[in-house]
Amino acid sequence: MQFAHLCATVWIVADTSHTSQTPTELTVRSAGEADWPAMALVGATCFGVWQPPEAVDVWRSMMPPDSAVVVCDGPDVVGMALFLDLQVTVPGGALLPMAGVSWVAVLPTHRRRGALRKMFEELHVRMAAKPYPLAGLEASEAGIYGRFGYGPATVLHRRSIDRRAAVFHRDVPDPGGVRVVRAAEHGDHLEEIYERWRLQTPGGLHSPRALWDEVLADREAFRGGGSAYFCLLHADGFALYRVHSGEEKSTVEITKLTAVTPQAHIALWRALLGMDLMATVNVGATHGDVLPYLLTDHRLVRTTGVDDALWLRMLDIPAVLQARSYSADLSVVLDVSDGVLGGGGRFALDVSGGRARCVPTDAAADAHLDLSVLGSLYLGAHRAAAFARAERLRCRDSAVVAALDAAFATDVPAELGFGF
Ligand SMILES: CC(C)(COP(=O)(O)OP(=O)(O)OC[C@H]1O[C@@H](n2cnc3c(N)ncnc32)[C@H](O)[C@@H]1OP(=O)(O)O)[C@@H](O)C(=O)NCCC(=O)NCCS
Repeated sequence: MQFAHLCATVWIVADTSHTSQTPTELTVRSAGEADWPAMALVGATCFGVWQPPEAVDVWRSMMPPDSAVVVCDGPDVVGMALFLDLQVTVPGGALLPMAGVSWVAVLPTHRRRGALRKMFEELHVRMAAKPYPLAGLEASEAGIYGRFGYGPATVLHRRSIDRRAAVFHRDVPDPGGVRVVRAAEHGDHLEEIYERWRLQTPGGLHSPRALWDEVLADREAFRGGGSAYFCLLHADGFALYRVHSGEEKSTVEITKLTAVTPQAHIALWRALLGMDLMATVNVGATHGDVLPYLLTDHRLVRTTGVDDALWLRMLDIPAVLQARSYSADLSVVLDVSDGVLGGGGRFALDVSGGRARCVPTDAAADAHLDLSVLGSLYLGAHRAAAFARAERLRCRDSAVVAALDAAFATDVPAELGFGF
């Protein structure tokens, strides 16, 4: 009797809470030292991976002060977002400070209640105050960040090569010079080659030594079922890869292929495609990658997917537009909208001899576009003509579209330096 009564009481309490409980208000505040265990739980729950504490410490060492916020429901941390202090290469080789947004997560119990929006409003005020001219991120899902003025700014083609049938074209040299080494014993070489590469590649990022050490620690948690790292080293390039062994065939998954010269690129591919017992080699590459031209049969290089990697949002539009070099002269007034976070404005952009001058203006606009579209055009990975056909770039006439395309074109395809 007593037990039944107790049960009934419990049921009534549970039922009341289910039907009448209104959502509590979510509050955003700075993340403090004591919040990190709760943030680790939020991250692990949202991304499905427990980050080793040593790895978290390395990323934390790359954060400027006051760059992490949490969203709370009462005392509970239910979401978080932060930014890293990064430096990105832009077309022409200038280096810009970039706030690298990362660890954005809201618990499944608290989604679609505006937590991300609140955190982003606060984070972007902090970025602008530092000041960072540019913010970047990688998106888990493509539908999230356009509303916040971020546009995909690099394009990564996932390529799969049937190695067993690959034959190099007779005109392609065999430069040699590749050594098989243990990656962890050659951190200095890898860092030096990567540094040369990132300084000449739009989207390249400065990688502090601590991050190199973390990569080369080669933690089991990040191997995705593959082997420990293998490394091919050339004086001007390297390939880091893992082998995934299947019952019938083994696959080489390249995690980083960096070549500073065409000879290093050819030499590394000769070594990679020379691995007799591997059936397939998978790699991420830009549209400018010349691998198909190295082979007698270019069809062996199949594109299995196309990903965005780096997304950009301009915080200081004139500073960012003036930082890069341009391929043709241009004189245009851009009207840039930025609905949610309230940036944007109208700017006169004048390019002469490859350099730009950009100032706010009241003059009539030649082109109207969202800030996210400007982010997509910035590194030259997307064309103005494509956005114009999609009606997301509305120009006074087609000559403006052509002029934007000519000016923003780049020789070196943009590529994100590393994931963050
Ligand atoms: C993505 C995530 C952070 C969104 O958090 P949230 O608090 O639910 O987002 P908000 O409620 O503030 O939504 C803000 C806007 O983004 C939209 N939005 C949120 N998540 C979205 C998604 N995955 N796809 C498309 N739109 C999304 C909302 O509908 C809302 O749109 P509105 O402004 O038109 O109303 C959360 O779903 C999450 O943690 N996902 C798993 C981890 C993850 O993917 N993190 C991002 C890593 S890059």
